[in-house]
Amino acid sequence: METYLQQLLQPRSPLLTELEQHCERDRIPNIQPEAAQFIRLLLQMHGAQRMLELGTAYGYSALHWCEAAPAAQLVTIELAAERAAIARGYFARARVEQRVQLLEGDAGQLVPHLEGEFDVVFIDAAKGQYRLFFEQALEKTRSGGLIITDNVLFRGLVAAEDDQLIEPRHRKMIEKIRAFNRFICEHPQCTTSIVPIGDGLAVSLKI
Ligand SMILES: C[S@@+](CC[C@H](N)C(=O)[O-])C[C@H]1O[C@@H](n2cnc3c(N)ncnc32)[C@H](O)[C@@H]1O
Repeated sequence: METYLQQLLQPRSPLLTELEQHCERDRIPNIQPEAAQFIRLLLQMHGAQRMLELGTAYGYSALHWCEAAPAAQLVTIELAAERAAIARGYFARARVEQRVQLLEGDAGQLVPHLEGEFDVVFIDAAKGQYRLFFEQALEKTRSGGLIITDNVLFRGLVAAEDDQLIEPRHRKMIEKIRAFNRFICEHPQCTTSIVPIGDGLAVSLKI
């Protein structure tokens, strides 16, 4: 399925292609391109003007959002200084540094201090903290805005019928993601749909 969906994608820009290869070389887990394409569509449908991203890594997903929403402002947060430095280099080469604000630090510490509301928030940082990130993101999202969370199916393991098939080192995290998925699907302030594309995207509309 993944290979088929990827075959249908239009070629990425040369810079995104270079960055994809850079992430692969350095084993940086960037968003899968077919999932990025789906979010690009949502950003265009939504007319997003102000976006927030938790988990920049090398800036691959951020560059997708900048291409899809060329007039939008993006605040993106990365914990690892060396990754943030690489992302800055790509933002400069893409000439988006005027509209991308890259903050270095723990998203859980930084998000509560951000000013104003966002049209779209993309959560792609430490999975163990997804619930905290979501609650903080919800505070910063306008009514009618979207919160999109990546990796909510984690290689399909979240939907495993037999937990014995899950490697013991992953079990705790899988339990956390399952609890997170229940939490967002039942959240009274949101309408959520989980889309099995890429590593699983949860799309939550703040009502
Ligand atoms: C899956 S990668 C992000 C990939 C990126 N969104 C992309 O698709 O190109 C997750 C990133 O979140 C960062 N991270 C982990 N915990 C974080 C935190 N508490 N605050 C901010 N960033 C964090 C990691 O250093 C890592 O670079």
